[in-house]
Amino acid sequence: MARGTDKHAFGIDIGGTGVKGGVVDLSTGALVGERIKIATPHPATPESVAGTVEELVSRFSWDGPVGLTLPCVIKNGIALTAANVDKHWIDTDARALFSTALGGRQVAVLNDADAAGLAEYHYGAGKDVSGIVILLTFGTGIGSAIIHDGVLLPNTEFGHMEIDGHDAEHRAAASVKEEKGLSWKEWTPAVSKFLKKMETLFWPDLFIAGGGVSRNADQWIHLLDNTTKVLPATLRNTAGIVGAAMTVDSAPAP
Ligand code: BGC
Repeated sequence: MARGTDKHAFGIDIGGTGVKGGVVDLSTGALVGERIKIATPHPATPESVAGTVEELVSRFSWDGPVGLTLPCVIKNGIALTAANVDKHWIDTDARALFSTALGGRQVAVLNDADAAGLAEYHYGAGKDVSGIVILLTFGTGIGSAIIHDGVLLPNTEFGHMEIDGHDAEHRAAASVKEEKGLSWKEWTPAVSKFLKKMETLFWPDLFIAGGGVSRNADQWIHLLDNTTKVLPATLRNTAGIVGAAMTVDSAPAP
C-alpha cells in the first residue's frame, strides 16, 4: 500500500497483548486490506514497542504519516501515565520515539479509549447521535472517551474514578470478572454502579460499551439497571486503529 491519499490513513492500536495496525478508508471507517497483529513484546518498554511498530509498518510498506494509540494519558505526544502498561512509558515522548523509529515521519499519538470513542462516534454505535456520548472500554482496565456533538474531551480517565474507596476499574473492568470467575450477573452490578455515578456527573445521552466483552453484549447489557441507554460498540477490534488513523491530520510535521 502506497502513501496516504486524502481518504486513506494508517492507524496502530497498541494494547497489552497485541500491536494491531491497518490502512483505514476515512470515508467509511473500514479497513482497506488486512489488519495485522503482532504480539506485544514483554516487557513492553517504549524501545521494544517502537521496534514492533517499525516491524508492523514495514509489513505494509506504507510511507505516509501514522496515528498510534497507547493506554496512557497523552499530552502533546508525551505519555503521562501507565496504569496497565510498563511504567517506563511515564514521561516518554511517544511521538518523538515513534517518529524516529519510523524514519522521521509525521506521527500522532493519542489515548486508546479516545481513539475508540472517536471511531465509534463517527462510524459506529454513536453515529448520528447528538448530545453527550460516553464510550467505556471494559478490558484489563476501563478506558473512557467523552464526546459532545462530535468534539472529544481527551484523557478523561473515568476508569480511575473512586467508587466506594476503590478505582472503578478495580471493580468493574472485564479483567475483574475473569480473575474472580464471576458470572455476568455477578459482574454487572459493579458496572451499573459505575454507570450510575457517571450519570449523576455527566448526564450522557448514550453510553457505548467497548472492549472484548462487547462481543457478548447480549449476555450482559440487559442486566444493567442504570438509566441511560447502553449500546455495544460496533467496530470491535478495529476501533482503536480507525480512531488513530482519524487523528493523523492533526499531527505536527516532523
Ligand atoms: C488507563 C487508560 C486507558 C484504559 C484502557 C486505564 O487503566 O489509565 O489510559 O485508556 O486503561 O486501556
